[in-house]
Order: sequence, then C-alpha cells, then structure tokens
Amino acid sequence: MTKRYIVQTMGCQMNVHDSRRIEEVLRASGWQATDEATLADLVIFNTCSIREKAEHKLMSALGTVRPLKDARKDVVIAVAGCVAQQEGENLLKKARFVDVVLGPDNIPELPALVEHARSGGAPIARTVFDVHAPAFLDATPDPTRLEVNAFVTVMKGCDERCTYCVVPHTRGPERYRSADEIVREVGSMVDGGVREVTLLGQTVNSWFEPRGETQSSAEPSSEPPRWAGSVVETSQFAELLRRIAREVPALARLRYTSPHPRHLTDALIEAHAELGVLSDHLHLPVQSGSDRVLKRMLRRYTRGLYLERIAKLREAVPALTLSTDVIVGFPGETDEDFEETLSLVRAAGFTAAFAFKYSPRPFTPALKLGDDVPEAVKDERLQRLFAVVGEQQRAHLDGLVGSRQRVLVEGPSRDGVRFQGRTHRNEIVHIAGPEGVDLTGQLVDVTVEHANNHSLMGLAEGVVPAAPAPRRKRLPVLGGAAGGAA
Ligand code: 5AD
Ligand code: SF4
Repeated sequence: MTKRYIVQTMGCQMNVHDSRRIEEVLRASGWQATDEATLADLVIFNTCSIREKAEHKLMSALGTVRPLKDARKDVVIAVAGCVAQQEGENLLKKARFVDVVLGPDNIPELPALVEHARSGGAPIARTVFDVHAPAFLDATPDPTRLEVNAFVTVMKGCDERCTYCVVPHTRGPERYRSADEIVREVGSMVDGGVREVTLLGQTVNSWFEPRGETQSSAEPSSEPPRWAGSVVETSQFAELLRRIAREVPALARLRYTSPHPRHLTDALIEAHAELGVLSDHLHLPVQSGSDRVLKRMLRRYTRGLYLERIAKLREAVPALTLSTDVIVGFPGETDEDFEETLSLVRAAGFTAAFAFKYSPRPFTPALKLGDDVPEAVKDERLQRLFAVVGEQQRAHLDGLVGSRQRVLVEGPSRDGVRFQGRTHRNEIVHIAGPEGVDLTGQLVDVTVEHANNHSLMGLAEGVVPAAPAPRRKRLPVLGGAAGGAA
C-alpha cells in the first residue's frame, strides 16, 4: 500500500531547502507526497524558532492535526527543524501525540524513525549535530517540474553569538561543505535546467574549504570577542564564487544569502566587480544603525564599518541594490538609537528590508537584558521603518520606468496573464509577452512601462539566447587583498 506524507514548512530558506531534502529522503524510501493532510500517513512540520511568533505557529498547526491523530492512531506526526532541535525530548512532553522529533542534521534518519513509530515504538527525539562528520545531503533537481531557481548549501551552523539569536543553539557550530561538492551540485542543477542558484548558509560568506576534523573557524570560546571588530580576512568565499563562475559557465545568475557584514572582505568585493554572473543585489543584514545597540547585540561591527563596506561595494558595482534585516525594540533601544537606525537606512539607500520586533528567545544572552521596549513603541518604530524603506523602494522603482531591464523569468504571474521574474538587481517585474509563448526560465529583455509599490510592469522585447554571463572588466586590486586569504 502507498505510504503518503505531507510536509508543512515554516521559516527561512534554509528550512525550505531542508524540506526538499526531507522529501527526497522519504521518496527514496517508497513514500509519496500528498497535498491532503487527511490522506497522509505521515505529517511533518519543519519548524522555525527565530521569533516567538514562529514557535506559536507550530503549536497552532499541531492543534489542527490533533483530530487526525485521534481518528487514525497509525498516522505519524513528526516535528523537524529549529523548534525540534531547540526543544528535543521536551517537545514530546509538551505535545504528547508527536511521534518523532528530528533535528536538522538528522534528516537521513527520518524513514527509520517513522518505521519505528509505525511499528508501535515509543515517541523518539533525535537531535544530534554532525559536528565530527559533517554531511550535506545532495540536492537533485526535480525532474517533474521546470525549476528556474535552486538553493545550494555551502555551510551550516553559526559561530557568531549575536545576543538575540537562537540560531547558534538550533543549528550548531559552523561546518563547511567542500568546494568540489558545491561545484558538482551547482553543475547538476544547471544540467537539470536551473538558471539561477542561490548559495545558502547562516553566515554564507564565512565559507572556507573544510580541512577535515576541526572545521569551525572560531570554536565557541569563553573569551568575549572584540565587538567592534574589523573585517575578517580568512574567508575563501570569493574563491568559491570564482570557481563556480569558471566551472559552470552556463549558470545565468548566482546569488548568496545571508552574508555577515564582517565577512564582506575586499576579495569578495573584487569578485562582485569581476563576475558578471553574480547578482547586482545583496541582502546584507544590519540589524541596527546605533553603535550602542550593535555592541549590545554583539554584531562585531560598527555603523561606520558597515557603511564603509557598502560604499566600497558600490564603488565596485555602481548598479548594486541593497536590502537588509532590522530588529526594532532590542532591549534598551532608545528613541535616539532608533533614529540612528533610520538614518542608516537612508544613508545605505536600502530598497527593501525585513524588519522584526525584538522577540526574546530561549538560550540567548539577551534574555538577561529583559524586554523593556513597550510593544506599542516597537509597533510604531516598525511602521516608521517600513515607511522610509517603502519610500526608497518606490523612488527607486519609479526611476526605472522607461528603462530596459534583463529579467530572468520565474513563471506565470498570479494574474495568470503575465509572466513574473526578477532583474539582475532583484526588482520584481511582471511581463506582458507574446501570446502563447511560455517565457519561464528565459532571460528576457523588457522595457519597463510602469512602477507599482513593490514591483515593475514591462513589455517583453526579446529573449536572450542562453550563453555564459559576460565577464566584467577585471578591476584593479582593492585594498591589497586580491584573491582572498587562501
Ligand atoms: N527577535 C527578532 N528578530 C530576530 N531575528 C533573529 N533573532 C531575532 C529575535 N530574537 C531576525 C534578524 C535576522 C532575521 C533572520 O531574523 O533580523 O537577520
Ligand atoms: Fe543569528 Fe547572528 Fe548567526 Fe545570523 S550571524 S544566524 S543573526 S547568531
């Protein structure tokens, strides 16, 4: 009899990526997907714990499957992802009808754990980091659908200790994937029809070639790190980008997320100037514009360093657009601190931002700072921030009306009439094209006719034949750190 599963994914791109691996592992063990929870023999929640709200989402989602479990005792309920890692066995006590709790590094064990549950075994939690033998599950393109974009993991875990963040606890220390494996996976994605690859990692640009047993660049230390810091020149990420560009020339576009500002090395800036395949957009989380808050967040850079880095990047890539993450209402954040954030948002000219109200998380150092900014103040700051970013985004998009943009088409727009894609700088474009022609997966030259608040509308002028991305002129060495610190 066919065994059916359904996965519900919450949270970030890493979870989206992990859910794909979960599905691949299950399919290899004879499971089939269903969209209907009532038909499923296995329900998996791939969870997020970055903010309390995300965790609440799991609890209400679990509430909805409870009747399913009551009606059919043989249905297996599994919780994977960050809440699973954070809570472990505790979760089995909190939600007694959960059968399997699975950490992000234990995905390959899922089929065996599910069989254990199906044969009447006791509820079980497996949340062990693969620190001593890090493994990265190979991703394979889905042959049943044309995929334009794909994620490729280059590292996992985080050695930073941002005081608000639960990720070092839920994802463990940094572990890096070998360049050979990464390049092979990017190549197989492109062979399978993928045009754009996004390299993934919690601090993706701290990547370096793994050197065997001890991989972590900075073993968690009892010494408090120097907060203001400077750019860390040990990353080999720029070299990795060059190698991908060289060895997979058919790749149309390369992105990466999320970089940490202190790993935005001169070598990486130079790679941006040099590699035509690299997107002219960077999502570079800043979190706050106040040095006082950055220090308490232990971000290990100053406002000045952040602005200096992006100025250098813009010098190298004048067309660059930037987006960011901001937390408002971090403990002790004053009106003046928040004004500093607004002024940084203006100075940096972000054209998009994800902004969040501070949410106290378990196991994080900021817990002891309390949560003293009133909810109403957090709300107001969030609204003011969105207003500034919204204005900047609108002005930026308005400025593009009448221009010609090259768009990678991702699929039909929601209106079912147009196609939707993104420019090299990440602007979303809705395209009217010739009737009856599927533009999905094509690079299309588009004349921009109109700007909405968050996207552009344009007319397809012509399809660009698939060809290697042109190289930019090699720029002179910036700051004397050519080629990275390999
Ligand atoms: N509260 C609010 N936002 C948070 N983030 C991480 N931890 C917290 C927290 N405790 C935000 C940061 C990060 C993004 C993924 O989530 O802005 O960049
Ligand atoms: Fe969290 Fe900071 Fe690591 Fe990002 S760099 S995952 S915010 S601890």
